[in-house]
Amino acid sequence: MADTHLIDGKAFAERLLAEIGRQVADLKAQHGRVPGLAVVIVGEDPASQVYVKNKVEKTKIAGMHSVHHVLPADTSQADLLALVEKLNADPQINGILVQLPLPDQIDEAAVINAIDPDKDVDGFHVVNAGRLATGQEALVPCTPTGCLLLLKDRLGSLSGKSAVVVGRSNIVGKPMAQLLLRESCTVTIAHSRTRDLPAVCRAADILVAAVGKAQMIKGDWIKPGAVVIDVGINRIPAANGKTKLVGDVATQEAMGIAAAITPVPGGVGPMTIACLLDNTLTAFRRQMKKG
Ligand code: GUN
Repeated sequence: MADTHLIDGKAFAERLLAEIGRQVADLKAQHGRVPGLAVVIVGEDPASQVYVKNKVEKTKIAGMHSVHHVLPADTSQADLLALVEKLNADPQINGILVQLPLPDQIDEAAVINAIDPDKDVDGFHVVNAGRLATGQEALVPCTPTGCLLLLKDRLGSLSGKSAVVVGRSNIVGKPMAQLLLRESCTVTIAHSRTRDLPAVCRAADILVAAVGKAQMIKGDWIKPGAVVIDVGINRIPAANGKTKLVGDVATQEAMGIAAAITPVPGGVGPMTIACLLDNTLTAFRRQMKKG
C-alpha cells in the first residue's frame, strides 16, 4: 500500500505566523500603528477558554494589539451588544471575535450581525457570507481558509476535482464548500441526512470532514489517493483512564489509503489561529485604505 503523507498544519501555521509577525513589524515601522484584535468570551465553557487563551497569546506574539473581554455566563444580550458597539467604534480595534457558543439567553445571529462587517474577522456576519457566496471581497471564516491553504499546498490547482464536504455548519461546512467552488472543484455538501454517505465520500478526490463525531469516517469510505482534511476535534476516553483528542476520521484506517491526511491534533487546528491573525491584518489594511 502507498504511504500516506501526514500534513503538518502546525509547521505551516508557524511559518504563516512568522510572516504575519514580520508584516506587523513593517506596519509599525512605516505607520506607527499595529492591527488590534478584540476577543470576547461569555461564560466558562472549558474548550472555549482554551481556544480563546490561545488566540490572545498568538495575537501578542505576532506583535498585534490584543484586547480580551471575559464576561460572566449570565450576561444579557443588551450588555453584549453594547460591548460590540463600543468595539465597532474603537479605532484601535480592527478585528472583533465573539467566541461561540454563547449562553442560551443570547441570540448568536443578533450578536454576530451587530459586528461591523469590516471588523468581522471570523467572517460569520451575513454580509461576509453573502460577499463570499457572490465572489466579492469578504472576510472569510478562518477554519475553511486554513483547510484551503493546506489543500493548495498539497495539490496545487484544485480545478475540476471532486470535493465532498461532510457537515453543513455556517462556521465550516458552508464556507468550505464556497471556497472549493471558487477553486473550480465539483462540490458536494453531505450531512446527517445524506443517503449512503460512505459511497458519497468514496467519490471524493478531496474529502473534508467537519461533522464533530469522533472517528465517524472510516478507512473504506476513502477513495485511494484522496486528500483528507479532518476538521474534527473530539475528546474521547483513552486506555489509561485519561482522555485524548481525535478527529472525525478514523485516521489509522485511512493510512495506506489516502494520499495525504491532516492529523488531529496538529493539522487544521493551528491553521485556524494563523488565519484569524491574517484576517486581522487584512481588516487593518482595508480600514487604513478607507481612512
Ligand atoms: N467556536 C468554535 N470555533 C469558533 C470560531 O472559529 N470562532 C468563534 N468565534 N467561535 C468558535
